[in-house]
Amino acid sequence: MTLAFTVSRFAFRRIFGLCSLLLLLFFLVCCVSANEVHAKKGVVSTRSELASQAGVDAMQKGGNAIDAIVASAFALAVTYPSAGNLGGGGFIVFRQHDGSTWALDFREIAPAASTRDMFLDEDGNYDPDIALRSRMASGVPGSVAGLLLAQERFGKLSRQEVLAEAIRLAEEGFELPEDIARQIAGRKEVWLRSDGSRNKFLDEEGEVLEAGSLFVQKDLAATLQRISEDGRDGFYQGRTAELIVAEMARGNGLISLEDLKDYAPKWREPIIGTYREHDVISMPPPSSGGIILIQMLNLLEPYDLKASGFGTSSTLHLMAEVERRAYSDRAEYLGDTDFFPVPIETLTSKKYSLSRFEDFNEDGATLSKNVAAGQIPLESEETTHLSAIDSEGNAVALTTTLNSGYGNGYVVQGAGFLLNNEMDDFSAKPGVPNQFGLVGGEANAIEPKKRMLSSMTPTILVHTDGRILVTGSPGGSTIITTVLQIIVNLVDHEMSLADAVGSPRFHHQWLPDQITVERDKFDEETLDELTKLGHKIATRASIGDANSALATESNVIGVSDPRNKGAAVGLD
Ligand code: DON
Repeated sequence: MTLAFTVSRFAFRRIFGLCSLLLLLFFLVCCVSANEVHAKKGVVSTRSELASQAGVDAMQKGGNAIDAIVASAFALAVTYPSAGNLGGGGFIVFRQHDGSTWALDFREIAPAASTRDMFLDEDGNYDPDIALRSRMASGVPGSVAGLLLAQERFGKLSRQEVLAEAIRLAEEGFELPEDIARQIAGRKEVWLRSDGSRNKFLDEEGEVLEAGSLFVQKDLAATLQRISEDGRDGFYQGRTAELIVAEMARGNGLISLEDLKDYAPKWREPIIGTYREHDVISMPPPSSGGIILIQMLNLLEPYDLKASGFGTSSTLHLMAEVERRAYSDRAEYLGDTDFFPVPIETLTSKKYSLSRFEDFNEDGATLSKNVAAGQIPLESEETTHLSAIDSEGNAVALTTTLNSGYGNGYVVQGAGFLLNNEMDDFSAKPGVPNQFGLVGGEANAIEPKKRMLSSMTPTILVHTDGRILVTGSPGGSTIITTVLQIIVNLVDHEMSLADAVGSPRFHHQWLPDQITVERDKFDEETLDELTKLGHKIATRASIGDANSALATESNVIGVSDPRNKGAAVGLD
């Protein structure tokens, strides 16, 4: 079947999708109410208004987008404890006003004492309790080293200036928002497992704090103060390091003083591709995000998505088939490039991508190979993404995480911050799905000091006319397809930034072999058509939380994802 024929059949199907489209437009007008700001001098968009404000304050003091995003990230460690962190890791993709591009990897690494089968029980089966809910689940944290390194190299303010607001928020406290209070209350059992967590999240009577009460975090303030005074040594050596190792000793944790001292973030070559008239700049391994995003965009480029229409069954079918193929490559080829030879050039080449689509059938789903399906969990608030653009045109995308919401649930006693459970992002056993239903093999097996494979996809899109999009999202395996859809919505469906972020999302990841759609957002007729094409449909409440920013010729626009309670704050 020729490509031209395929594309024209897509256009034809559009007629049948017209009703669906009208319904969706109705949805967009009624329900998309993203927090959106237009500003002249800069914008920061994060999951917490206090954190966005901390970033804009840094710009107001003369800081640039890097100062702002680092100030916001430290503030998020105080105001958004489920994913803002000192005890986790993340990635930064940065495009300077002169067009140069940078990627900083501050992903956690496996402690030196890690072993390949450490998450298997006596019968050789994957044990999610150890992989996700024990002290052994923690990789060596990278966030503090990464944020400080980025700020030292590219920022204009002093370290003390970018940390001041985070320290104040922890020391003086802030009013606990309702959504965070609800998350904390729902995890009371988790906090009761350790003194560190009990002290942070429960009051003296052992009760959870109510929404609206003052949330003060003295131990966290002291840790931030040590970082402010001593830089990375304030975390990776001395008192904080000793407190982390003491926390490890209370259970089966593996992080040692040596692991902490040796931790180093790495500058990486960004993954750069093109999509129509845009450059796409994204995160290389140990994230799978950039490679899989570029592969999916390469596969979509020959198709007229505008003609096939937003939210129609033909568009969803095409995109799901693209996603299925890219995610099967993820399972096979992606891992930490310091340990495994990832074929980056081939995977991101347009020629290879097209060869992957030779068996595409527009009239039916190509079934994924059969492996027991894992379930994608309901919550999507466990990682967090920040976007910032300043008046000089510097653009920064930062995604950071503890992995699951509130990481492994253990707060380092006396230091006031939560530990990650990022070790579950390794493939604990070939072919056995992790918490996101993702499978992997040799490329992502556990090895000492190796970085676990990530899906985090901080991305910058640069149009030839000068417009710049900064985006990214949480959502585990769904992160890459969320970023894909925002790009397609903006470029192909010519939506505004608010609509591109707010529109309904769906996801396919090869295994489990199903399209997951946001519940009650797509019309029944579209879903019936997809079922007839041979797709299985699963639903979940929401996918992603893509706080984004866009620089246009005349202004900067910030949008926080309407699915959650983030905020974009602008500087005029
Ligand atoms: O790095 C990754 O891909 C995961 N640890 C991200 C986890 C995440 O997004 C959780 N949010 N739903």
